[in-house]
Amino acid sequence: MDSSLLPSPIHVACIMDGNGRWANRRGLPRNEGHTAGEEALAGAVRAASARQIPWLTVFGFSTENWVRPRAEVRHILSLHRKLFARIDEMNENNARTRWIGRPFKERGARTPIYVQKAITKAIADTAHNSGLEVTVAFDYGSRAELLRAAQLAMSHGEVTPDSISSHLYSPDMPDVDLLIRTSGETRISNFMLWQIPEATVYFTDHAWPDFNAAELDNAISSFQRDKQR
Ligand code: FPP
Repeated sequence: MDSSLLPSPIHVACIMDGNGRWANRRGLPRNEGHTAGEEALAGAVRAASARQIPWLTVFGFSTENWVRPRAEVRHILSLHRKLFARIDEMNENNARTRWIGRPFKERGARTPIYVQKAITKAIADTAHNSGLEVTVAFDYGSRAELLRAAQLAMSHGEVTPDSISSHLYSPDMPDVDLLIRTSGETRISNFMLWQIPEATVYFTDHAWPDFNAAELDNAISSFQRDKQR
């Protein structure tokens, strides 16, 4: 079949797992795995943009990740600063930066000021682009998102599927069509639980730093096989 006739996912989401194991296998410190993971994400943005995928959402740092060793947390945070500073690259790809997570000023939120600034600047400096929407989930957890959405829905009247959807962190984001998790784990890990009811889930044994355009194509093929059934 002509592959241009096959359906394409509108929204691809990634749980970027396995940076630590990737580094271990090479006898490198874990942080080297995260550094390579950030590079792989830049590659995934290019690949998604080249394939004209409208939405890409990635799990950068979860509400559960704060308990990791301080030096590791500090390194992952510095990589987020680096990622959000890739503004020229985003503009070359006509891609917009977005963010989901616990709103900066809300009780319990933990995004440090320097990451807040990097996020705010990246969003402003890429807002004019019209292609790929790249959403980074940082200080994000689906239960926190849903609890907040339900509370807001209740305070505004009725709790219905629509009223919950309208109070998510990014209400205009479409549901996920294809959820990818790398590194052999087959868990969802509190990621976008409301947004994945119909998603094809693609698990690969490759660690996130090895994720590339060919892997994205494999995942898209799996989505297309699902749609043809
Ligand atoms: C899992 O690897 C990855 C994370 C903690 C989240 C994603 C972080 C990155 C891809 C690094 C930097 C990326 C951004 C978005 C700036 P792991 O430590 O759980 O690996 P392991 O399971 O092998 O230990």
